[in-house]
Amino acid sequence: MNTKGTIYGVGLGPGATDLLSMRAYKLVCEARHIAFFKKAGRVGHAWQIASPLLSKNVTEFPMEYPITTEISVSDPRYNKILSDFYKECCEHILSLSHSGKDVVILCEGDPFFYGSFMHIYSRVKDKCPVEIVPAITGMSAAWAATKVPISWGDDILTILMGTLDAAILENQLRDTDAAVIMKIGRYLPKIKQALKKTRRFDDAFIVEYAAMAKQRALPLSDYGAEHAPYFSIIILHGKGRRP
Ligand SMILES: C[S@@+](CC[C@H](N)C(=O)[O-])C[C@H]1O[C@@H](n2cnc3c(N)ncnc32)[C@H](O)[C@@H]1O
Repeated sequence: MNTKGTIYGVGLGPGATDLLSMRAYKLVCEARHIAFFKKAGRVGHAWQIASPLLSKNVTEFPMEYPITTEISVSDPRYNKILSDFYKECCEHILSLSHSGKDVVILCEGDPFFYGSFMHIYSRVKDKCPVEIVPAITGMSAAWAATKVPISWGDDILTILMGTLDAAILENQLRDTDAAVIMKIGRYLPKIKQALKKTRRFDDAFIVEYAAMAKQRALPLSDYGAEHAPYFSIIILHGKGRRP
């Protein structure tokens, strides 16, 4: 009887190949089948991180998002288009596993931290063996880039998405010591407004492309751009108990 191949959700870290764990490094170097998400017309960020390590004989399964920001998440078509897409991706990945092949799914950052991999995971986890390889998240690289520690003593650290409603952002910012705001992009003006209303703006840093060649970290008050790139994070450092 055919033994099912294992699906590996491999975290690649924030964007530098030398920030991979040794486990991820070995799996990527030895992979015969890889899968990764990408936007149309791009090579895929996860692929880019892993590419120096991939074997020449590797078989690639690029999973190209049918939509990204063209349709609002509140539009009923959004869920249907994406769930059909994930279903198709899973059918292919499961067919590889069921024919005994291991598949390494390349994931930017940590696979279980706000990543698309989780949509594959939830659909395949009861149908084949799955292993998760944890990794350094983008936010760890971002606060390292600011050269200021993120959380001290019993500081509360809150992780927020720029896509949240302004009122939720404000309430959360009022209630926390330290904060990380991800998915900034075109939501930057709304986030800045929430930071100003809660008197946190002057303490905020923005980091673009953490751990990548074009990394940039600066106080948000010095950031002139109207919108931020997809790979950017706002950091509010905690100031808690210090002996
Ligand atoms: C879909 S989430 C993926 C998070 C990822 N799984 C992780 O562990 O960090 C994408 C968001 O993460 C943030 N991000 C991830 N890596 C980053 C990096 N190297 N530099 C800046 N932002 C990053 C950005 O805010 C981006 O919009």
